[in-house]
Amino acid sequence: MRDKLTPPNPPLSDGVITLRPFRADDAAAITAACQDPAIQRWVPIIPNPYTEVDARGFILMTLQAWHDGSGYEFAMADATTDRYVGSIGLHLGANERRHAIGYLVAPEARGRGYATRALRLATRWGFEQLGIERLALWTLPGNLASQAVAENAGFRFESMARNWEVDRDDRPLDAVMYSMTPEDLADALAAEETPGEVPLAGWPRELRATGTRAAPFVEIAALADLAPGTMRRVTRADLDLLVGWTDDGIVVTDDRCPHMAAPLSLGELAGCVVSCPLHAGRFDLRSGETAQMPTTGGLDADGNHHAPWSPSGAELKPEPATKKLEARRLTRVNRLRYYQTRIRDGRLEAQLPILPE
Ligand code: FES
Repeated sequence: MRDKLTPPNPPLSDGVITLRPFRADDAAAITAACQDPAIQRWVPIIPNPYTEVDARGFILMTLQAWHDGSGYEFAMADATTDRYVGSIGLHLGANERRHAIGYLVAPEARGRGYATRALRLATRWGFEQLGIERLALWTLPGNLASQAVAENAGFRFESMARNWEVDRDDRPLDAVMYSMTPEDLADALAAEETPGEVPLAGWPRELRATGTRAAPFVEIAALADLAPGTMRRVTRADLDLLVGWTDDGIVVTDDRCPHMAAPLSLGELAGCVVSCPLHAGRFDLRSGETAQMPTTGGLDADGNHHAPWSPSGAELKPEPATKKLEARRLTRVNRLRYYQTRIRDGRLEAQLPILPE
């Protein structure tokens, strides 16, 4: 039998989000949140349909968890209005290596960084209070927003755990498993102390370079050697990388045009768009999308065909059907892929699928 848990007093807060125990008057907001199709999809263990009776049962369950010592169940509340905006629970396992954390955010409160703030608050407090050696966090494979929250808060990807859970209909579910150790937490805290004048640009999480989730961080460049508005090529093992300092911050992608592999570092960077030195292709380093198809035409990332074009606007002479023409027509211009970056001690590091030198 575990001891009763005492909520932190004063409540955990960073001035934007406060974590407090649930109250009976959160029921209506919890009900509305849990009826959201995205929450129904990504938290497939909650009832469907979800009613206020379910919400009241959930609140009782969280209060019971405080009482029987099985977990710290917090409502995420707006620090100014105290309004419920989400839930986060630190569930205690059999020992300090079996604790786990989970969260959800109400639809109208998304896009404001609340989940990342709440996860940071709860994990830091948990590590300090509980002597945690490992904190686990899992999401469904397609839940990229939740995975981004985990990574932003300093969790490390571990593996795909097959048949990890069962859903509300008892069907097995695979899970993407993350964890945090005291060393990861120290890294995350150090990263937050990085001077703010060197921003790392965001990019779509689904465009992370293949095979890099669990890859080691490798030094790419000294920050002193980089400058806003510039690009440079960096080679590590057999990877040629493009380090671009765009209007949104620094990104690392392959130094290879997604059309026909020309080095993008020989092109030009304007804002967030890099122009390839061949065929006038232009690519957005923020989104990974093609901003302008190459003059040769071809297939875009979604497989749609684009005709050749001329930069002067002149009409193109019809070319005889040859294999070269067919190759151009069938060449697909894919989206850019990105390497996760961080800054340590004045150096830019990226997660690369190679062993550090
Ligand atoms: S190789 Fe870059 S646009 Fe063709």
